[in-house]
Amino acid sequence: MYIPHPEPWLADETLGEHLERRGIDRRDFVKFCGQMTVMLGLGQSMIPKVAEALQQVKRPSVIWISLMECTGCTESVLRSADPSIGDLVLDLVSLDFQENLQAAAGHEAEAALQAAMKENYGKYILIVTGSASLAEDGICCTIGGRTANEVLRETAAGAAAVIAVGACAHWGNIQASKPNLVGAVGVSEIVKDKPVVNIAGCPPIADTVTATVVHWLTFGRLPDTDSDGRPLFAYGARIHDMCSKRANFDAGQFAESFDDEGARKGWCLYKVGCKGPATFSPCPIFLWNERTSWPIGAGHPCIGCTERQFWDNMTPFYARMPNVPGFGVESTADTIGLALAAGAVAGVAAHAAATGVHRIREQRRARELPVVDRPPEGPRHG
Ligand code: SF4
Ligand code: SF4
Ligand code: F3S
Repeated sequence: MYIPHPEPWLADETLGEHLERRGIDRRDFVKFCGQMTVMLGLGQSMIPKVAEALQQVKRPSVIWISLMECTGCTESVLRSADPSIGDLVLDLVSLDFQENLQAAAGHEAEAALQAAMKENYGKYILIVTGSASLAEDGICCTIGGRTANEVLRETAAGAAAVIAVGACAHWGNIQASKPNLVGAVGVSEIVKDKPVVNIAGCPPIADTVTATVVHWLTFGRLPDTDSDGRPLFAYGARIHDMCSKRANFDAGQFAESFDDEGARKGWCLYKVGCKGPATFSPCPIFLWNERTSWPIGAGHPCIGCTERQFWDNMTPFYARMPNVPGFGVESTADTIGLALAAGAVAGVAAHAAATGVHRIREQRRARELPVVDRPPEGPRHG
């Protein structure tokens, strides 16, 4: 867990000056800028511009509020396995209020929030984890005697931009699943007059939050988003189109159960419930756990956690998903392997799917993003 660095920022100090004073290795800094630039899909030629912008920036104040949630997103974002990079990430911002990390509690915490807002009113970035509640006048979640709804409205009023982290802040998550007795809603249902970006997932990958902050610091605005407010640099492509098991899908090689020969060989998990064909997420590219693996790579189907209402729309999690309109995934899964084996025409859906994979890979290569070209993961053990 992050421990605030003992050397405070000096007044008017830039990030570059601060890092230099702290003795941060220049190579670590440039490496970090390179990773962020690639994640943002900007191309390697932009690394010097990002590095220069970050060096000259003054740390923005960040206020991080926690509403109806489980704290998993905070764990995901702040628990870095790489201490030097973790410190560097948190050096980017002045984390002026975060309930899980600060010593203050109760009235002291409430006073700290008011002070942080007052000091940087109109300028701070608001990070929100958790959902608000509209049922019963919002009393299903109260903090310091006020509803989550009120806390969100008040803190958003003084923010320059809002980053909604996780499925709870994005659309309400399991609290908002049918029948949604508490009237749970995401940030964008409450905050209408500020730029809001949704870092989707339960929880999301930490790098996605960091890259969003880097985009803000470099360009002075939030990244472009899809129609659901998710940043396109991370959520612009389907898992299925970047999946390391896609070759197995196209070849008709499926695990039929979690302990069969197909599962041991690391084949496609579509028939045991994978929702990758309907899920937009950077998991196959950014990866988890120091970029070592991800759910499908570990042998578990994607449950679609970056999509709205996934508890209602993607369940049962271990049943194969129904046909996806416009894609024909169901018929493809049933027939493509046999069709290919027989040397027959595989069908329009298969062709379109393969073409889509090729096109996305070429696009990513053109943007100098990492392309997952690894062979399918090996056998699962245990
Ligand atoms: Fe927890 Fe998931 Fe909500 Fe994050 S999105 S706070 S991990 S329930
Ligand atoms: Fe990968 Fe799932 Fe698509 Fe299979 S169905 S290729 S496991 S995303
Ligand atoms: Fe979520 Fe699917 Fe990634 S379940 S963590 S989007 S593989």
